[in-house]
Parts: sequence; structure tokens; C-alpha cells
Amino acid sequence: MADNKWGRRIIYQIYPRSFKDSNGDGIGDLNGISEKLDYLKDLGVDAIWLSPVYQSPMHDFGYDISDYYDIDPIFGNLSDFDSLVKKAHSKGIKMLMDFVPNHTSSEHPWFKESKSSKNNSKRDWYIWKPPRKNRTTPNNWLSQFGGSAWELDTKTGEYYLHTFDVSQPDLNWRNPQVVEEIFNVMRYWIKRGVDGFRVDVAYYLFKDPFFRDEPHNPAYTDIHIPYDSLLHIYTVALPETLNMLKKLNNIVNESDDMFMVCEIYTFLHEIINLYKIVNHQSFAPFNFSFISLPWNAGEQKKFIDEFDELVGHDYFPTYVLGNHDQSRIATKLGEDSSRLAALLQLTLRGIPFIYYGEELGMKDVEIPEEKVKDPMAVNMKSYNFGRDPERTPMQWDGSKFGGFSNVEPWLPLEQEFKERNVASEEEDKKSFINLYKSVIKLRKTRKSLQDGKFIPLDFKNPNILGFLRQEEDEKTLVLANFSEEKQIVELPKGSWKTVLSTKMDVENRKEQNQVNLGSTEGIILV
Ligand code: GLC
Ligand code: CA
Repeated sequence: MADNKWGRRIIYQIYPRSFKDSNGDGIGDLNGISEKLDYLKDLGVDAIWLSPVYQSPMHDFGYDISDYYDIDPIFGNLSDFDSLVKKAHSKGIKMLMDFVPNHTSSEHPWFKESKSSKNNSKRDWYIWKPPRKNRTTPNNWLSQFGGSAWELDTKTGEYYLHTFDVSQPDLNWRNPQVVEEIFNVMRYWIKRGVDGFRVDVAYYLFKDPFFRDEPHNPAYTDIHIPYDSLLHIYTVALPETLNMLKKLNNIVNESDDMFMVCEIYTFLHEIINLYKIVNHQSFAPFNFSFISLPWNAGEQKKFIDEFDELVGHDYFPTYVLGNHDQSRIATKLGEDSSRLAALLQLTLRGIPFIYYGEELGMKDVEIPEEKVKDPMAVNMKSYNFGRDPERTPMQWDGSKFGGFSNVEPWLPLEQEFKERNVASEEEDKKSFINLYKSVIKLRKTRKSLQDGKFIPLDFKNPNILGFLRQEEDEKTLVLANFSEEKQIVELPKGSWKTVLSTKMDVENRKEQNQVNLGSTEGIILV
């Protein structure tokens, strides 16, 4: 099992609307991505995860699919897609598609049929329920995007379930025809050449067959979205869902060298349980511990040490610093700490997922009210939970629209794009991008960083997280100072040379038996 290549691959998430516009409409597209493959290759990316490019009315920017078998014209067409896949493959870059099995768009022909009458043959493809006796919603379930998860269809007098926007009705996974059709969609894209999928909200597929009310969450306060006021014991992570993920993975395994990563926000032991259930090296759930746990050495170390051990050597941990739903890491932690986070992400054992722009230290962009696009922000104005700030255009150069487009982009560019962009950072030895490139280069040339064991180290210092990676007799030591104070760290036995620092100012410094770590500095020693 140990020679599975996915454990070594670096995966890069592209939000296609915001990566590169090739035809001057202000929105990124497939041909734009094709133009930038050399950039990705040079960065050291081994696989791309494309956020959805299927046909969609774009109420949730592609996470509302109206045709699983076609590309949305905003992004191009099937032949643009085919040539992107071909070109990526010719450069040794794999392609993962986002895959949205929990819901479709309300404009999907299946839903239109389903809605047309109670006895339509597709009625049972979605989740319909009559009102309760007192004429209200079937139960108390809530939508993640605000309000009830039920929407009344006045024509047939029944409610349909939508865990997300009203325009995203949930499919009925208890209907075998739905399951069969979704399997077919997966096979269709695999046949077209994709190397696997990122499965959207993979924990949500099945809902309680008795539609019981969910209990109140005693830990809820109004700093959370209203959805969090309930404990989702009847809608999330049902055993049927976990078993279905195994079946989806079986479809992926009909071909060789495929991969499937699932979007699941949960606790350590549930993540581990899922590895066990799916039980294949072509599968991993996302691990969001870097962004969900407090940013201090103690908490992060405790999680990483336990996580790596429990995942075990036949499988691969994953590490994520951000995505299109999360505030950017450089905004959350600041520049120095986000450099430290990148160093850890790229040197730990497991699969790093880089969200486009992270390699530049891109930050959240404040969006003026009239430019807000995200349905989550529009539906829940008072909460300030919009995701537009982390979805702004990639910053390629200092020209008028950042080299992203030759017209005004669909979302505003970051104000500092003239300093923070690919072209200028490439010139600057100490930049984010050069830090990324240097660490990735080390990762690819050192077998201890590629395949090595993860060996936790304890420095009896609450500010320091450090570990060894070891393969045969090659060792790499990583040390991270989470504090703003300098720290002196005793080195493990042996002779060590510092080959890289997050400050990008040391190279090949031979160390005695201790090192001085500067404020928020991380280093790699060999
Ligand atoms: C996932 C996606 C998010 C989307 C939601 C509904 O959480 O990452 O962007 O809005 O699912 O599909
Ligand atoms: Ca375009």
C-alpha cells in the first residue's frame, strides 16, 4: 500500500471565477487556468482541485448544479475542459473536480419535474413533506444559509428540504435511482479524464427517515450562525452517509491512481473513524485543525501528534490553511504566523491543500455592501458571514486589474495588489512565494519529507512545536516558534544545519547544540 502517490502530492485549489479571465468578461474561466499551468508547475503543484465548473444558475457560484454533464458557458465548454485536462496531464498535473452530490440547483430538470406534481416519477428524487398539522414546516430543521431548511411549494402544498440556499434542494439519497445516477455522473467525468473528486458537504447525504426535530444546542450563542442553534444529530453524519462514502470511493477505485477528498468539518475521532470505514489509500477527509483550533504551539502539537499516529502509516493526513469558505489565513493569523503555518503544512506528513493566493499571502478583501455576491452574506446580512472576502481575483501583476482580467473583475481586487502579486514577489527573495517554492523544493528532494515517518519531539517549551521526519537514515528537523519572543532550543543529538527559515534569510548555517529562533520564526534543519 505504501507506494500510493497521492500521499506525496501537493494539491492546489482553484476557485475558477477568480483565477484568470481569458475572454475579458471579468470572470475567470477554464482557458484562463490553462494559460497558468506553467505557473502552477513551477510552484510545485502536483494536482489541481477545481471548484465547480458545471452548468449552474450561479446562485451559490456553481455549488448549485443544473446539469452535471456539462460545463457552464461562463467557464467555457466541454472541449475547453478536455484540453485543460489534457494539458495539465501533459505537465504531470492531476485534476480533481469538485463534486456536489447533496443537492442540485432548483433549476435542474430533475427538480423541475419533481416539483411539477406529487405523482411525477421524479417526485421522490428530492425530499418532500406535507406541513405539520398546525400548517407549519415539517420539523425544526434549519438551513445553513439562514431560516428554515424547508420551503413551501404552493402548487403541490408540500415542503422541500434545502440544507443550503432555497435554490439548492437536497437530493433524496434513500432513492436508489438517485444513487445510480450520481454514480453515473462520477463515471462520466472519470472517463473524460479527471483523476478524482473533492466531495462537497459529504457528511450530509442522508437525513433521519423519521424527520425528528433536532435538539437545541446548549452551547449556542448569537456569535454563531442560527444554524448552529441546533445539534444536527438527525441530518449530519448518519451511518448511512458514512457507508455511502465508501461506495462513492469504490466508484473512484474502478480506475487506477484516483483520489477522493471529502469536505467534513468534525472532530478528530470522527475523522479517524471515516478513514477506517472507507479504508482505502485513495481516500482522505479534509482536516481543518489549523484553522479550527487555537493558534498556539500546545494545542496544535497535541492535535498533530495524535492525528498522525491515529491515521497510521497506511493512510495520509491532510492539512488545510484555507478555502473558499474560510477567512484567509494571512488575515486571521497575520503574515508571520501564516508563513509559519505554511512551513508546517508543507513539511508535516500528509497532503497539503493550498488555496489559490495563499502562496502570495493574499488577504481577505473588504467588500462594499453594493458589491456583495455570496448568498450567505445576502441572506444573513446582520451576521457578517459572507465568503466574498476570500474569493477575490488572483493577483498576477501590478497592472490595472492585477493581470487577472482586462476589465473590472467580478469582485474587487485586494488594495495592496500592486505590491502583493506574483510578478513582484518572484523578484523578492524573501517573499511568500519564494518561501513556498523553497519549502516545496526541499519537500520534493528529501525522501524524509516525501515518505518519512513523523516523529513528534517535546522541547518542554510551550512556544515551540518541533518534529522530525525520517526515512531510513535521512532526517529532517522542523522547528516552529509560535511566540513573538526569541526562543533558544536545544537540538536533538547529531550535527544539524539550518537550511531554511520562514524569514528567508538563512541558508546552510551550521549549528552547534542549540539554535536561536526569532519572533514567529520557523526553520528546517537537515
Ligand atoms: C460547501 C461548499 C460551499 C457551498 C456549500 C453548499 O460547504 O464549500 O461553498 O456553499 O457546500 O454546496
Ligand atoms: Ca472569462
